[in-house]
Amino acid sequence: MSIISKDIQKAVQLLTEDQLVAIPTETVYGLAGNIFSEKAIKSIFSTKKRPFFNPLIVHIPSIASLSDIVTHVPEKAKLLAAAFWPGSLTLVLKKSKTIPDIITAGKDTVAVRVPNHPITLELLKKLPFPIAAPSANPFGSISPTKPAHVENYFKNSIKMVLDGGSCVNGIESTIIGFENEEPVIYRLGALPLEEIEAVVGAISIKNKKEEKPDAPGMLARHYAPKTSTFLVDDVAAEVEKNTGKKIGVLVFKSSLNNENITEIILSKNGSLQEAAANLYAAMHELDTKNLDIIIAERFSEFGLGKSINDRLQRATFK
Ligand code: TXA
Ligand code: MG
Repeated sequence: MSIISKDIQKAVQLLTEDQLVAIPTETVYGLAGNIFSEKAIKSIFSTKKRPFFNPLIVHIPSIASLSDIVTHVPEKAKLLAAAFWPGSLTLVLKKSKTIPDIITAGKDTVAVRVPNHPITLELLKKLPFPIAAPSANPFGSISPTKPAHVENYFKNSIKMVLDGGSCVNGIESTIIGFENEEPVIYRLGALPLEEIEAVVGAISIKNKKEEKPDAPGMLARHYAPKTSTFLVDDVAAEVEKNTGKKIGVLVFKSSLNNENITEIILSKNGSLQEAAANLYAAMHELDTKNLDIIIAERFSEFGLGKSINDRLQRATFK
């Protein structure tokens, strides 16, 4: 029997009983548990095979709940929350004592956001506690943007995927921390840099591939298909070089018109928003086709193109 269901009341019940429920958000599906239940939080880590040094994002129903989670909100964090919540922005702020250390991997900061999905907002409003939710995929795998992606990963380990359809933004939230009260980008994501800078001015980016990253979403290999993936400017030339192999390609808007390859066009209209929304589903799909390689086209480095390139780049590490 399918674990996909629209029954919000059942999700409330399972979460209240310390169980996990996969929840829809506008970015990707999350694997959710009660932040105050040690049992639930431990099972998030074990279900995902996620290392304990990688902290979780706390999801709250509205800005009003922020004061329960954090002790200090810098001025620019207030501006960002007012501008973008509910939405694809995660803020990393000084945590309040009530937030368990297992959520934050022992850090004195906590990541928090108000997701912009009507079903999950309704769920959060019904719950007497916030929920922690990392993306609902095994550690290092492609994030899920459809209920079926989660079901394929976890049908034997969780009881329910709350069905909210396909995620409209399709890549994870943008994560912003604060250093001396000034915002710093820890992870590029669904909220474009330019929109953030329009609110708080120029902002520095620490979205690097570091050994011990602040946000392990920065780990070099992440969001990766099982099939070897390459990111190039000239897809046709790369296809040429790999003649004889079973090739999948991911292109932004223009077809290569080559019948020997499996091609997915991310947005025929050339919409970055649509391309981001389709990105992970396309990676999931190509990964099921038994290909030798996947060749992805590099985007122009502006707006969501920057975030899409970030995810594609991480998909190429083995
Ligand atoms: O869009 C999203 O953010 C999705 C949906 C479900 O909300 N969630 C998501 O969670 O992408 P996850 O766990 O896959 O990524 C959370 C990232 C990790 O890279 C983690 O290291 C970082 O947030 N993070 C969490 N707490 C942090 C903290 N206190 N300081 C720095 N980074 C933190
Ligand atoms: Mg993730």
